[in-house]
Amino acid sequence: MPLVPNARSARIAESATLAITANAAKRKAAGQDVISLGAGEPDFPTPAPIAAAGIRAIEQGKTRYTAASGVPELRAAGARWLGSTFGLSYGPDEVMVCSGAKGALHMALDAIVEPGDAVLILAPYWVSYPALVTMADGDPVVLPAVPDQGFVHDARTIDAAAAKHRAKGILLNFPNNPSGAVPDPAQVAAIVDVCKARDLWIVSDEIYSTLLYDGAAHVSPASLPGGRERTVVVNGFTKSHTLTGWRTSFLAGPRAVVEACGRIQSQVLGNACTISQEAMLAACHDPLPDELARRMRAFDERRRFLVAEINQIPGLKLTAPRGAFYALVDARALCASRGIDDVQICEQLLDRHLLAAVPGSAFAIPGFVRFSYAAAMDQLREAVVRLRAWAEAK
Ligand SMILES: Cc1ncc(COP(=O)(O)O)c(C=O)c1O
Repeated sequence: MPLVPNARSARIAESATLAITANAAKRKAAGQDVISLGAGEPDFPTPAPIAAAGIRAIEQGKTRYTAASGVPELRAAGARWLGSTFGLSYGPDEVMVCSGAKGALHMALDAIVEPGDAVLILAPYWVSYPALVTMADGDPVVLPAVPDQGFVHDARTIDAAAAKHRAKGILLNFPNNPSGAVPDPAQVAAIVDVCKARDLWIVSDEIYSTLLYDGAAHVSPASLPGGRERTVVVNGFTKSHTLTGWRTSFLAGPRAVVEACGRIQSQVLGNACTISQEAMLAACHDPLPDELARRMRAFDERRRFLVAEINQIPGLKLTAPRGAFYALVDARALCASRGIDDVQICEQLLDRHLLAAVPGSAFAIPGFVRFSYAAAMDQLREAVVRLRAWAEAK
């Protein structure tokens, strides 16, 4: 009998978004004119001053191991950035540097979850959450999506699920990937109150927190009364400043949990890339507000374009996202009239019209399709032409 990987790894599926992006890239490489709106990566390059800091780090020989939780100067700069940008109050030893938001979420869940603990996940959710909980030996409990409530669960529903499953914690992600939902401050406060009453940990993935539209405001649960002591905040510059490939993030929380995450990171990763830490330090020292504003104007123009265009296509509906850079299109009417599901829609869009998007079922919201608008306007214009051609074909 050949040796086989364990049962836990068998429960981990490949990331659906990465698989679709890889498929689209393969077709592009084969010369097909694919428009790929699958990936969650800004189409803008890493800003030059941040990239230059990475280059300088190499030139200055900053290429060796750092402390597992990150260079002290960066931890301190992270604490200041979280304070000045989001009103969070952390000391340098309550902030650590991880390898991407993904890495931070992994460390946080590993440090919090006991075997078999239920962790609540609100659908639609970012594809990696259930796998990350499973890898921490926890039990992911998914609360069905509430599209009719603007994709924000009310506190009573969360309370009932927490009680039913005796949950240990909850994963929150606002602004949300894929829905773009941003709850009002009162809604965040109500969720924090439930977490306090049920003594839940909150793992708050805030990686899109500076990408907001229509006057939406980001409120971290850690900034609210009763939130700080139970929240692990994950944030950074991945999506706002295209540090996607640099693999950096901040994890912030009460000292004991940050120390636990640091011990775990020291054993499984060592430290976040030293060169990238220098780039992140440059981003903290100057987060380039003018560049961010320019990006937001571009994202907003694309968002408005998609909302206007897609809502004119019979059978499709798009509620304007309030954050991040995804359009989560409601295709339930078309699914029903054609007797197909969202996976088939995405297959048809790619096969027949060379348009790559992600089926909602990857985010536990079947009947929906996610298009990323982190893509140039001419690509989006052509994408709408193809989407309309697909929707109007008999
Ligand atoms: C909600 C959410 N969290 C985390 C990540 C991963 O971020 P990073 O590249 O910093 O690991 C993503 C990337 O798509 C995301 O959408």
